[in-house]
Amino acid sequence: MKIAVLASGRGSNFQAIVDNIKSGYLSRVEVAAFVTDKPGCPASEIARAHDIPVLDVDPSRSSSRRVFDAVLVSRLRDYPVDYVVLAGYMRILSYVFLKHYPQRVINIHPSLLPAFPGLNAQKKAVEAGVKISGCTVHVVDEEVDRGPIIMQKAVPVFADDDEQTLSRRILVQEHLLYSRVLKNLSEKEMQISGRTVSFS
Ligand code: GRF
Repeated sequence: MKIAVLASGRGSNFQAIVDNIKSGYLSRVEVAAFVTDKPGCPASEIARAHDIPVLDVDPSRSSSRRVFDAVLVSRLRDYPVDYVVLAGYMRILSYVFLKHYPQRVINIHPSLLPAFPGLNAQKKAVEAGVKISGCTVHVVDEEVDRGPIIMQKAVPVFADDDEQTLSRRILVQEHLLYSRVLKNLSEKEMQISGRTVSFS
């Protein structure tokens, strides 16, 4: 299964995927291309270190989100992939991009969706006083963090947690969860019926 990874920042989820490919856990997964809207970000250094083709796409050269997404599509045309994996990609993808990969774009979010969509999910969880949060891998549609849920992992929230301590605890589970989803996608067929996702 070939994937493209899109990321804008630190890249710890991307690193975990690369590590799991190298270890053989994701033996059927290959990262065909790495795409970033933040040329030079730490995630792109991970790609370079593993000889993964890096596509730098600078948003300041596009007049709108749709124009930018069309550039992404055209750059990715040289790298046919089964799935597009968002790993801390900080831009919202428009229909212009999504229609090229119907139900084939996935994202990881640091909360138990539909709770706390959008930015600063861990901070929102601490402020809301929830006792359980976690992470979610979901199919991407045009609504931010609202697409069908593929898998989730719950994480406890303790009374003395702050945004940082909770983020760290969730991140450990993100690294495991994303690869578990990719393993499923590489070995099984994903079915989406309404909002319900299953594998067979
Ligand atoms: C993660 O918390 C992920 O859930 C969110 O962005 C963050 C990316 O972290 N979408 P990293 O760049 O993978 O370390």
